Amino acid sequence: MHKHIFVATDGSDTAMRAVDLAAEIAAKFEVPLTLGHVLQFDKTSEELDRMAESEHLVEHVSRSPHINFQSMTGSMADLFAESRPRDDSVRVMTMIGDELVRRGADRAKDIGVKSVHTTTSQGDPADAILGMAEEVEADMIVVGHRGLGALQRWLQGSVAEKVNKDARTTVVTVR
Ligand SMILES: Nc1ncnc2c1ncn2[C@@H]1O[C@H](COP(=O)(O)OP(=O)(O)OP(=O)(O)O)[C@@H](O)[C@H]1O
Ligand SMILES: [Mg+2]
Repeated sequence: MHKHIFVATDGSDTAMRAVDLAAEIAAKFEVPLTLGHVLQFDKTSEELDRMAESEHLVEHVSRSPHINFQSMTGSMADLFAESRPRDDSVRVMTMIGDELVRRGADRAKDIGVKSVHTTTSQGDPADAILGMAEEVEADMIVVGHRGLGALQRWLQGSVAEKVNKDARTTVVTVR
């Protein structure tokens, strides 16, 4: 019997499905669920754009009074261009990460999970996922088979692969 479920989300459609499944399991067994996201400040511009597109995250974040988005046209990647102050991009990335897990948490609550927690981390995504899961003493980790990376690829994503390889707990990989 599992006692605490951890699900990792990068905002991709597959990760959303992972959140749904994790929430269904947590609701069914009446155990707590933690949603975690690893902030990545070195994403490729394609990944950033896919992340920005997912559920209009940037539109939401841009309503924040703390960030001047006026010059933000076109690509999300522009935000991370050399000419921009590093502080702003870090702040945007952090807000997007927070918003991602918050939305996942709302979804989990709708599905019927009573105890929902969120967390974010930094660093190598797989290591950070394993670290966050360990911190909450999760005994099941749920990940997507793929994420925001190469969309056309049929292989399992590298983060999912590493989590599966290195985890000491059960890992469920959602396709
Ligand atoms: N930054 C992240 N934060 C939280 N979870 C993540 C993160 N990156 C990946 N994941 C989790 O891992 C799953 C698989 O994503 P992964 O990154 O392995 O595939 P990919 O993006 O298609 O490939 P790659 O990153 O190797 O190009 C996602 O569905 C999500 O559950
Ligand atoms: Mg990825």
